[in-house]
Amino acid sequence: MKHLLTTKELTREEAELILDVTEQMAEAVTGREVPKLPALRGRTVVNLFYEDSTRTRTSFETAAKRLSADVVNFAAKTSSVNKGESLRDTALTLQAMGADAVVIRHPAAGAPQRLTEWLDGAVLNAGDGTHAHPTQALLDAYTMQKRLGGVEGRTVAIVGDILHSRVARSNIWLLTKLGANVRLVGPPTLLPKDIDDWPVEIGYDLDTSLKGVDAVMMLRVQHERQNAAFFPTANEYSRLYGLDERRLALMPDHAIVMHPGPMNRGMEIAASVADSPRATITEQVTNGVWVRMAVLYLLLTNGESK
Ligand code: CP
Repeated sequence: MKHLLTTKELTREEAELILDVTEQMAEAVTGREVPKLPALRGRTVVNLFYEDSTRTRTSFETAAKRLSADVVNFAAKTSSVNKGESLRDTALTLQAMGADAVVIRHPAAGAPQRLTEWLDGAVLNAGDGTHAHPTQALLDAYTMQKRLGGVEGRTVAIVGDILHSRVARSNIWLLTKLGANVRLVGPPTLLPKDIDDWPVEIGYDLDTSLKGVDAVMMLRVQHERQNAAFFPTANEYSRLYGLDERRLALMPDHAIVMHPGPMNRGMEIAASVADSPRATITEQVTNGVWVRMAVLYLLLTNGESK
């Protein structure tokens, strides 16, 4: 692996290696007085974010620092991008400053792929448009491993705005590769048209689709990517596709509630469900640091030093 662009292109062995190294990172750092490893000392990781982020940007920064790398945070909103500088020129400028890896979030699908054509270092996709968000899917799979004892044979319902969700796409390819059954549930207007050959079940009724699940992944309704009215009102969406306590009770007792964040509390998920012990939302954030440590380590060292 030279870059991490999508989960679709990962082999099962590569995905399992990342999850194994994630576990090693968590074990190596948890409980240490100084939670740091020397593996990436002298390396520079650039966070190149053209879109807002709370979790992913800070998580990559924390991960790189825990591996003793130097971190440069670049926010497009306060840079010469506002003066018209292109993605290529921005990337080449950062490379000239010695970037060994570039973590990029961009509203255009395919932007990370373009970067790989211009840069010598590793490129890590931190979310490109509605296309892919591979480290989110990896941290979700790791969270399932920890909470459910594995991914193989588990049934996962992904609920809501699938159409605009890079998290859904990355999870579909990763979870099915790891042997899970994936159900997509949402209003027909928020399911992509071209999913006939996706390895998933489709459902439109949330109550029915929650029966027998091991995990439910609630997606944020992405108002910022919607250029049309996909459902009549927020209240109706919430009534049909929101996860509340009544619906939580339809799930098996062991089943967990996941959300990649940020959440629209009261819309796709009730506050009481988001804060319940069955929700893994803050664990997912913690696990994101271990996953990003693992991918930075594997891409920058080829797994050869620790
Ligand atoms: N889950 C996720 O990508 O969150 P951010 O947009 O805050 O990074």
